[in-house]
Amino acid sequence: MKGLFITFEGCEGVGKSRQIKLLEEYLKEHNVPYFLTREPGGTSVSEQIRNVILDGKNTEMTDECEALLYAASRVQLLKEVIKPKLDEGLLVICDRYVDSSLAYQGYARGLGTEFIERINSYALKNFTPDYTVFLDLDPERAFKRKGGADGKDRLEQSGLSFHKKVYEGYRALAKENPERIIVIDASGEKAETHAKIIAALKEKGVL
Ligand code: TYD
Repeated sequence: MKGLFITFEGCEGVGKSRQIKLLEEYLKEHNVPYFLTREPGGTSVSEQIRNVILDGKNTEMTDECEALLYAASRVQLLKEVIKPKLDEGLLVICDRYVDSSLAYQGYARGLGTEFIERINSYALKNFTPDYTVFLDLDPERAFKRKGGADGKDRLEQSGLSFHKKVYEGYRALAKENPERIIVIDASGEKAETHAKIIAALKEKGVL
């Protein structure tokens, strides 16, 4: 039986990595077979693309190039890792996916969702996540949690106004995809947020 495909999304500093770790601990404890991966990255080729995208020295990179690199990294990860793991029947969890491209490049960079959908049609047609956990936290608070933009990678250097647009993008996507995107209030304690995620995934029959 084909496994389920779950993705995690959110702005910088919402505690996404921490929540994924907590979910991982839960899955181990309950003997749920899973595979965890991340975007951009997750394969040797994709990690190399990730380094090009996030390198703070690449200030001349165009928005279109950035979006295409994310899509390229994604298609490699899908074919090399996600598809085979789903075929093995595993629960596949991916830290970011195509919604990140829609929110960051489509909305915040202003490329528009149509362009992003076009260049990601392989991911969107063949591998739409079964569910996406969106960690919802006001970007100002999220930004403060992470400690501002100093010494960050190229995307993180973009500043608060950019991240507000990313947030608005995510909110719009959640509205358009109410069946798939599970909105989790991430403003509380990490244990509280974790409990909300587990409850939501149980309700959907994932756990
Ligand atoms: P990462 O260090 O993995 O950030 P995080 O811990 O917040 O997930 O860096 C990934 C960065 O790439 C992050 O700023 C979001 C951005 N991104 C996009 O802009 N578009 C995309 O399609 C993806 C997958 C990520």
